[in-house]
Amino acid sequence: AQDKRESLYVLSTWAGKYFKEQLWDTESGQSIALSYFKERGYREDIIQKFDLGYSPDQWTALVDMAVEKGFHKDYLKEIGLAIERDDASLYDRFRGRVIFPIHNLTGRVIGFGGRTLKTEKTIPKYVNSPESDIYHKSDVLYGLHFAKKAIKDNDMCYLVEGYADVLSMHQAGVENVVSSSGTSLTSGQIRLISRFTNNVVILYDGDAAGIKASLRGTDMLLEEGLNVKVLLFPDGNDPDSYVQTYGSTAFKEYIAKHQEDFIFYKTNILLKDTGGDPIRRAEVIREVVESIALIPDEIKVSVFIQQCSHLLDIEERVLLTELNKIRVQKA
Ligand code: UTP
Ligand code: MN
Ligand code: MN
Ligand code: MN
Ligand code: MN
Repeated sequence: AQDKRESLYVLSTWAGKYFKEQLWDTESGQSIALSYFKERGYREDIIQKFDLGYSPDQWTALVDMAVEKGFHKDYLKEIGLAIERDDASLYDRFRGRVIFPIHNLTGRVIGFGGRTLKTEKTIPKYVNSPESDIYHKSDVLYGLHFAKKAIKDNDMCYLVEGYADVLSMHQAGVENVVSSSGTSLTSGQIRLISRFTNNVVILYDGDAAGIKASLRGTDMLLEEGLNVKVLLFPDGNDPDSYVQTYGSTAFKEYIAKHQEDFIFYKTNILLKDTGGDPIRRAEVIREVVESIALIPDEIKVSVFIQQCSHLLDIEERVLLTELNKIRVQKA
């Protein structure tokens, strides 16, 4: 089994180099993919640092090359670089896409995300490597290998939704950032973060999906004992689009100024659409107390109950009763 894993590592390292060569050393790579990255505003040093690549728009370009190099078809399938047809022939999973290699903590390539260059809404925007013996999605955070030192130094980690967000933030000089790659945060990913810091700031997309994911992510992080702040970008922006539209300085000012403690964030988001209705206001109070009830540290709990009491203009006694009710229900 160890031999097999080692073979998969070797294969995915080779594939990473292959995609890189396609980007830098071919005419179509330069004219289609490199120009795409540059139009999005990425500098060459960032494109190099993250080992970005390109998969040409052909059915078997990688498979042919890999077989020629002597790689096993089983391993190509297993790691998801190739997909098998009914007649047992193989074709490339990544075709006509720019490639974001996914590294593990030690910097080895374990999977890939491929972004389409087309604008049609019918095509999936990203295609990703499937689970394999060396790639367990729920235990991987994109960018952690490049971020871990900065996370330790700053004793804080920014959490974003996407690959592009990680790249643009590095380019802006903010390197303590990881992405859960669009999937909802797992406890494995949170434990990974907590090896380096207990402080997380969620920077999700300023759209409905981002708001929903930020509330769910907050609860997950609180439950694992981490301190959580949240910030949303205006007008549907994400960290990448904000950096590229307004520049690094404006980005850094924005995130310094607008991050708020989860409790203010959640309360304000939920209060926004109560329209002063007392019953819905009561529901909001309950939901906020539900988040507080997840926190393992009693001192923090009492601090947040106090804050919540001021924020919602409710007696602490009432909130504590609610807190105990929730705890009894969960026990
Ligand atoms: P987004 O839809 O916010 O994409 O998804 P993005 O990162 O801003 O991408 P750009 O800027 O248009 O290039 C956030 C993340 O969710 C995952 C990817 O990891 C993406 O970065 N995702 C999204 C997928 O895996 N598949 C998809 O079809 C879409
Ligand atoms: Mn395994
Ligand atoms: Mn989004
Ligand atoms: Mn996004
Ligand atoms: Mn984006």
